[in-house]
Amino acid sequence: MNVLVCGGAGYIGSNMTAILAENGHNPIVFDNFSKGHRDAVKGHELAEGDLADFDLLVKILKDKKIEAVMHFAAFIEVGESCALPLEYYRNNFSNTRTLLAAMEKTEVRKFVFSSTAAVYGMPKTVPITEDLEKEPINPYGESKWAVERMCHFQSLTGRLNYAALRYFNACGAGGSGAIGEDHKPESHLIPLVIAAAMGKREDIKIFGTDYPTSDGTCIRDYIHIEDLCSAHLLALEKLDNNPELVYNLGNGKGYSVRQVIETVKKVSGKNVKVTEVARRPGDPPVLTADASKAISQLGWKVKYPQLEKIVETAWIWHSKNPQGYKK
Ligand code: UFG
Repeated sequence: MNVLVCGGAGYIGSNMTAILAENGHNPIVFDNFSKGHRDAVKGHELAEGDLADFDLLVKILKDKKIEAVMHFAAFIEVGESCALPLEYYRNNFSNTRTLLAAMEKTEVRKFVFSSTAAVYGMPKTVPITEDLEKEPINPYGESKWAVERMCHFQSLTGRLNYAALRYFNACGAGGSGAIGEDHKPESHLIPLVIAAAMGKREDIKIFGTDYPTSDGTCIRDYIHIEDLCSAHLLALEKLDNNPELVYNLGNGKGYSVRQVIETVKKVSGKNVKVTEVARRPGDPPVLTADASKAISQLGWKVKYPQLEKIVETAWIWHSKNPQGYKK
């Protein structure tokens, strides 16, 4: 299948691009390189441009005979979204509307969308099932939920078959440690702890130690990037006969911030200085996925259920790329 991978040079998009190619598909990377890395998609076909450009999207969808679109291009910082809500609505929502309009015009029906556990806000129960209330507590989660609703109504017209995949904490490096996580600035826990272990940061700050969890720190569900991508591939294959697919993608097992730090110390063999600071606003104490729907309906199998194995792949990439991607 010819697949347009929007945001294909980012962390998840670049891993997806590699996996699509390995599985006999023809990925075309669409990226404006505002955040993505050219080095992460070497050897793959590029279509450089911006999602706001309707005419360019129509041209690419037609010229490249695109059969499906996977959409990873988005701003992802919860804190930043509270400071710049309009930017999040523009980039995450308005640009996705433009993309869907270009798909409608060119009669491309299949769409796989990167959603997030942030659509649930502060869940009343965990593990989270897909039918739990969607009550995002920040513009980031709200912008993703708004796209899900737009896809839902567009699918009712009969002109869109979509999958919304709600990620928990994507992490690790794909391709045996070849395609890694390099956000600038970095805000995610695992790469930050690794940076501290490598001596690139003085310490790792734990945001809050008074949560109602076993060790007082937040619990998250860490899912390896290749597992995340394999679910996308399965969802893509199922879109022919399904207008609407919605799945949580997580391991179902939670690890606390302290457990993540201990795991990085073990994998790296390095010590990490820990500084305990106040809570970060908007962090729910526990977020874990009930991914049984993806497992039973897609036949999804997770290859990396253990945090240690996930962190090993991240450690390999960061050790090989201490300064991140060069470009
Ligand atoms: N944390 C620290 N110190 C740090 C960084 C993070 O203690 O320096 C803590 C956070 O407070 C949180 C946990 O580590 O409890 C994980 O934080 P991340 O920033 O790595 O990830 P989040 O769980 O906040 O967010 C992730 C994705 C979001 C997505 C969200 C959905 O990055 O895009 O999951 O649950 F919206």
